[in-house]
Amino acid sequence: MSSSLISLGIESSCDDTSVAVVTQRADRDVDILSLITFRQNDLHHEYGGVVPEIAARAHATRLDLCTKRALKKASLELRQVDLIAVTSGPGLIGGLMAGVAFAKGLAAGSGKPFLGINHLAGHALTARMTHGVDFPYLALLASGGHCQFLLVQSPTTFTRLGATIDDAPGEAFDKSARLLGLPQPGGPAIEAMAQSGDPHRFELPRPLSGRMGCYMSFSGLKTALLRTRQQLVKKHELPDPDRNDLAASFQQAIVDIFVEKSGIALEEYHQRLGERASTFVVCGGVAANRAIRENLQELSAKYGVEFVAPPAKYCTDNAAMIAWAGLELFGPGRCDPFDLKARPRWPLDETASPIHVSGKKGQKS
Ligand SMILES: Nc1ncnc2c1ncn2[C@@H]1O[C@H](COP(=O)(O)OP(=O)(O)OP(=O)(O)O)[C@@H](O)[C@H]1O
Ligand SMILES: [Mg+2]
Repeated sequence: MSSSLISLGIESSCDDTSVAVVTQRADRDVDILSLITFRQNDLHHEYGGVVPEIAARAHATRLDLCTKRALKKASLELRQVDLIAVTSGPGLIGGLMAGVAFAKGLAAGSGKPFLGINHLAGHALTARMTHGVDFPYLALLASGGHCQFLLVQSPTTFTRLGATIDDAPGEAFDKSARLLGLPQPGGPAIEAMAQSGDPHRFELPRPLSGRMGCYMSFSGLKTALLRTRQQLVKKHELPDPDRNDLAASFQQAIVDIFVEKSGIALEEYHQRLGERASTFVVCGGVAANRAIRENLQELSAKYGVEFVAPPAKYCTDNAAMIAWAGLELFGPGRCDPFDLKARPRWPLDETASPIHVSGKKGQKS
């Protein structure tokens, strides 16, 4: 253990309070020693979405216990940790501030260095933690607030090849689940219903098909789903078979969008990198979806690239990916000052032109 670095990761950018301890030995082996996550679904349930003030307050009261449990599960004490990594953006400002203030307190009290981590970098670098993927790789980051194709060249070098111009796919899953009377988060609920449904019964749109390279659009899908539901029933609940078919048709539309747009992104990846274009990674909460993973795996085989999808629990928000990103970035003198500020908006590719739409966490990055 002496030649290894131990990172304590803290995540509180949305509605999951999560703390993890991750270590990497000199030989590159990674161990996720603990991952404790307190979900807040029950707190937001009655409002139909995440209420930022409630989320922030819950993070502030739970971070302490979450950290104690993560250290205990890892059989470590704070003094044995080498660095503290905390999500400092993008996300809901109240939750980010709760996490950053807590991390600063831990760092000041223990004398440990601390690092602010970009939540999206956490998602995009996860495949290196779980599968040891080498740079450069192509990543489709598909989550509750974002959707981007990224060329990932180093822990801090991301080139955006395309992105959603409106809703994120996770948002589309969540809003559509609500329209179908399913619980939140909507992605897993729709996936479960879709298993017994006919994915070709309803014709939902594939926005931007054949247009705008690997840019995507998802906002029209929920409107189309709503219209289809209204045609089926006026006031009553949808009968189960209809609901399953609608869920399956919706999921199929997302799969088709991803397959078409990933093909375009893979072409560009090959054009830019030639022989070095070897790996396609899917990450972010929506990457937990089995139909999406299976279809992107098939597509990757056609393009002759290795396909990597981290285990589902490391796709949705988790502090292990933040602890890992801390290990990737940490180096002599590479830590943040105590005046580090939380950033609600923090694009991975600062050179790419902004896309001016808002999601559940505010302005997209
Ligand atoms: N099996 C699944 N199929 C489809 N979507 C899923 C699945 N599991 C989770 N999701 C979706 O993933 C989203 C949550 O992902 P994640 O936790 O990465 O989002 P976020 O952190 O809120 O957003 P961001 O990472 O963009 O800031 C939710 O919208 C959820 O519905
Ligand atoms: Mg996320």
